[in-house]
Amino acid sequence: MATPYIIATHSYRGGTGKSNVTANIAAELALSGLRVGVVDTDLPSPGIHILFGQDEPAVTINGVIDQEYGIAKAFIDVTPAGPSFLGKIFLLAGSPKPADIAKIVKEGYTMDQMIDIYRGFIKAAALDVLLLDTHPGINETTLFSITVSDLLLMILRPDRQDYQGTAVTVDVARKLGVPDLRLLMNKALTSLDWQTIKSTIEATYQAPCLGILAQNDDIMRYGGSGLFSQQEPNHPFTVQLKAVVSQLLPLISA
Ligand SMILES: Nc1ncnc2c1ncn2[C@@H]1O[C@H](COP(=O)(O)OP(=O)(O)O)[C@@H](O)[C@H]1O
Ligand SMILES: [Mg+2]
Repeated sequence: MATPYIIATHSYRGGTGKSNVTANIAAELALSGLRVGVVDTDLPSPGIHILFGQDEPAVTINGVIDQEYGIAKAFIDVTPAGPSFLGKIFLLAGSPKPADIAKIVKEGYTMDQMIDIYRGFIKAAALDVLLLDTHPGINETTLFSITVSDLLLMILRPDRQDYQGTAVTVDVARKLGVPDLRLLMNKALTSLDWQTIKSTIEATYQAPCLGILAQNDDIMRYGGSGLFSQQEPNHPFTVQLKAVVSQLLPLISA
């Protein structure tokens, strides 16, 4: 595939489960044979590296911005071991070092730099699909991620603040002309009426809902120490997630 499909996962507020969902979607896509790139664009509060077992990533996007090394040296192969992975996962991490975070927050980076980094990553890793894990809320990076994406995947919880924030983001994304926008509900209580939630949010935001993922104590217990879907392939959360990924696959290969 010459031009990879770009998916930005976003939520208006933090703690929605964006990084978890993004990392586990990446794993499922790689299982199906795709070469998947994951970029932590949340440079003020990077975190997705931990889900891939890279607590202190040796190379990061910050290193590329600081011109310490080129993009071809900046990504890490985080594909889980085992014969079932037909594809690959490559991670372009954000630096969790306090000095790097302070620097990036103070000095920032230009959108041209970011475009070069994405292009370089896509080429060097021969990606089929690129996942952008974003910083919550509406800010410059989010707007940029939305404009370069083929699909904006909005993650929300059944919570009034999330509902209002999602309305704001959906409105902005449409103004920016995002080609496709889909919703994914996370942390839903099993006691709620999911069918009603699904039809309500689809009608409210005029966008398809790819699925509803339950609030789950097992994930809390797991504490973000890895890829839950790979450790627990038959868990109801993983089954729900696989159903979401099965709807993404035709979009990616179209
Ligand atoms: N469906 C879920 N059930 C229970 N806990 C979850 C679920 N999804 C995510 N979490 C937990 O919520 C916290 C925030 O998730 P994270 O992916 O870091 O959110 P974000 O990236 O949106 O800030 C983490 O502790 C994660 O393990
Ligand atoms: Mg996150």
